[in-house]
Amino acid sequence: MLNFPTNFLWGTATSSFQIEGAADVGGKGPSIWDAYCQIPGNIANGDTGNIACDHYHKMEEDVALMANMNVKAYRFSIAWARILPDGTKSIINEEGINFYNRLIDTLISNGIEPWITLYHWDLPLALHMTYDGWIDDRISDLFGDYADICFERFGDRVKHWITINEAWVVAILGYGQGVFAPGRTSNTEPYIAGHNLLLAHAKAVDIYRSKYQSIQQGQIGITNNCDWREPATDSPQDQEAATRALEFFLAWFADPIYLGDYPQSMKERLGNRLPTFTKEEIALVKGSSDFFGLNHYTTMYAAEANPNDGEGDIYGNGGLSEDQDVTLSVDPDWELTSMNWAVVPWGCQKLLEWIAQRYYNPPIYITENGCSYEDTEVNSIIADQKRIEFFEGYLEACSKAIQNGVNLKGYFIWSLLDNFEWASGYTKRFGIHYVDFKTQERIPKDSAKWYAELISKQT
Ligand code: GAL
Repeated sequence: MLNFPTNFLWGTATSSFQIEGAADVGGKGPSIWDAYCQIPGNIANGDTGNIACDHYHKMEEDVALMANMNVKAYRFSIAWARILPDGTKSIINEEGINFYNRLIDTLISNGIEPWITLYHWDLPLALHMTYDGWIDDRISDLFGDYADICFERFGDRVKHWITINEAWVVAILGYGQGVFAPGRTSNTEPYIAGHNLLLAHAKAVDIYRSKYQSIQQGQIGITNNCDWREPATDSPQDQEAATRALEFFLAWFADPIYLGDYPQSMKERLGNRLPTFTKEEIALVKGSSDFFGLNHYTTMYAAEANPNDGEGDIYGNGGLSEDQDVTLSVDPDWELTSMNWAVVPWGCQKLLEWIAQRYYNPPIYITENGCSYEDTEVNSIIADQKRIEFFEGYLEACSKAIQNGVNLKGYFIWSLLDNFEWASGYTKRFGIHYVDFKTQERIPKDSAKWYAELISKQT
């Protein structure tokens, strides 16, 4: 039985690059994802974000979809290059500001709280070309300038800010494995990028707290992603491997914020590839989140890597394998989504409890949880029973975690709409609304109707 507190926050989530389209419309500058999509082979079917869900032109209709479900909050991101076309404050694009002003106002007039993510991976291309993107020491100040403008222009109405979405993905997939923009491969750059992402987050928070928070009365935090890692056996080696995997995934970013430094396991294993914080930096970083934003999708078993395994780990290890010595696997009985991610609700409960324990029970918001399945439309009906079961399972896990004392305060479904799923292009559908990408028609899937009913029962 699902039983949530009446003030629990029910939401849906999207991100700018994945839905907006209008890539060069309304004064927007190009982002690293616009460029990355141009390189053949990077994205399934050669898809791009040029049109995506055309949300830039269909914003009112999309807010109406949420109003129909009675959702309480909408998490979306701002395209940095729509506000600052070359990434710096030298040119402010008022048309971009107007677009987000209209979105915010439309949400509020429909009783929906805007939750803004400042950075969901679409770095202005100019900051990659002129500077060196997230590797460049100057990037955190540039992010601070951009954040400052957003707080100033939107903060009178926006009370919830998320600085960075999934620093792990930016660092590992963007600079380590090279499978996301900007497509670099390195075993040093991810840790430099990670460091700069933390400093960027912390500087933005410092600006918010010193200039705006007491007047605007909002909250600010960061969203990190983590899968659960279950020890493959109860041997001490596998238990340590699972903890180490969680440390290289989540604690990499959460320990500095909540505990004041990188995890010991990372310091030991990475040596001078892991940057160190100065005293001043850690004073900025520690305590820099008013809430714990968590994106969670799946679970894997973790075992101590056998040195003879070589490159044999077919799953990758959720990071740079040589750094962790962890071998990952899934139970063949676990159901898989069309991303091949295992559906394991108890992993969600365990992760929430791990966070609560390690970080002194912070207020947590699940800012993304969801699944992709191969939905088909038959006479305007999308019977996505598996997605409904996925949500029911994960929400039950959340509700058990709350009963065990976890301070979980809200849950955002990923995603409001089928959208551009990064390297998978439009081949993976995560939405609770079906999007026909030829006509741009939106159709509520059965899961959207189910979510509306759930919200009406729980609030
Ligand atoms: C997250 C990401 C989202 C979405 C989701 C599903 O990592 O923040 O943008 O794509 O995964 O893959």
